[in-house]
Amino acid sequence: MKIDELKKVYKRCQEENADPVIFGDGNPDASILLVGEAPGAKEIEQGKPFVGQAGKNLDHFLEILELEREDIYITNVVKFRPYRVSAKTGKKVNRPPNRQEIEKHIQYLQEEIEIIQPKIIVTLGNVPLRALLRDDQAKIGDYHGKIIDKDPFFIFPLYHPASILYNRGLEEIYLEDLYRLKKHITEMLQ
Ligand code: URA
Repeated sequence: MKIDELKKVYKRCQEENADPVIFGDGNPDASILLVGEAPGAKEIEQGKPFVGQAGKNLDHFLEILELEREDIYITNVVKFRPYRVSAKTGKKVNRPPNRQEIEKHIQYLQEEIEIIQPKIIVTLGNVPLRALLRDDQAKIGDYHGKIIDKDPFFIFPLYHPASILYNRGLEEIYLEDLYRLKKHITEMLQ
């Protein structure tokens, strides 16, 4: 199956959701697959993963790795926006996807991986790490910056860039991890 055919299959989850489903985006022949948590408001607005602030974080990530957006494929574990309605403002507020939502969407991620056949999957934060390791207890604090052999691909877990906004102490660690990732990518892709 090709990625465009998979997008047609995704329509199944579209039917169950009022908000648009945000498909993966980028180069389906890429060796690097980046997996985030779920789209937020900006992604729904623009119909693409990792735009707005998350897109700026992504640009920084790509700059350090000396890559372009076209060099990678980007997707999320959950393809719609998980939200709650704020009692105070009545507005939608992002929330992490719950276990049922992740279970429902994991097959799409697995199919994306089968089609793209990446050499390395970079996970951002706990949600994609746990989804790909199939381990609800895995913690990004234990796994970040360490390469995991999951033949036929490697997983490289990073903190979610958004977590750096809440915890500035993580910034240096995140940068160190990025440079480690860069080394792996250079070795792997040469
Ligand atoms: N935007 C995405 O598409 N995914 C995230 O995990 C965060 C922001």
